Amino acid sequence: MPKAAVRQRAAGAKDTRCGILLISSPKGGSGKSVLSRHILVSAAQAGIKAIGLDFDQQQTLSKWAGRRARTREAFPDFAETLVEAVSLGDWRGALRRTEGYRLAVLDTPPSVEDHLPAIDALGEAADLILVPAVCTQDDVESVAPWVTALSSKGFTTSVVLNRANRRTTSYARMRGVLVKAGSVCPTELPQLEDIHVPSTKGLTLLDYSKSRGIEPFEEIWAYVRREMKL
Ligand SMILES: Nc1ncnc2c1ncn2[C@@H]1O[C@H](COP(=O)(O)OP(=O)(O)O)[C@@H](O)[C@H]1O
Ligand SMILES: [Mg+2]
Repeated sequence: MPKAAVRQRAAGAKDTRCGILLISSPKGGSGKSVLSRHILVSAAQAGIKAIGLDFDQQQTLSKWAGRRARTREAFPDFAETLVEAVSLGDWRGALRRTEGYRLAVLDTPPSVEDHLPAIDALGEAADLILVPAVCTQDDVESVAPWVTALSSKGFTTSVVLNRANRRTTSYARMRGVLVKAGSVCPTELPQLEDIHVPSTKGLTLLDYSKSRGIEPFEEIWAYVRREMKL
């Protein structure tokens, strides 16, 4: 049961605590920031008060949010999202920023081994950890032990397969390795050639209801909502 729900049951009252979704992977380019921004847009479209915390010094998510704010000046109908740049060095301060929100999406840098105590603390605080993984040997080799380590600490963890191509034999092999390592999200993200196009304006595929390729993001959002009791 998610930590927020346990606390709710214990208190016997409606839980107003912020649900924390940590997005973590030891590999760069695995889809952490892509997942973060699509989930933030889904939350905004669902009327859930959410904050994105960008722990990556490269600030991919913060820059995307900046572009989105500029786009919304001209087109305010796009749902409003909020992202703050924070640092792993001050993870306590970062977690305090979640107060008053219903959902916090924590986007993190790839170099987990340099920040183990901070990532551990965020994992401890999180209700759900999503670990995106590209279906290649290189990614799976580092993601599988990472997922096993997170799960052995008792953290609720789920791998999201990214750039998945079911027609390849390597896909089946990599998926098998990850399923043995821990839980795998039932929906995967296929290779989406146009995924970077809306991002240039701070948008996502979900901002256009007729976009090709939105279904997996909608399904992952439904999964997150159910798992986190949002
Ligand atoms: N499913 C996908 N199909 C095509 N391109 C993708 C997909 N997922 C991510 N990308 C691209 O891969 C790059 C890295 O993704 P990103 O989310 O920034 O990774 P991370 O945050 O893990 O470093 C970006 O250019 C992004 O647009
Ligand atoms: Mg990133």
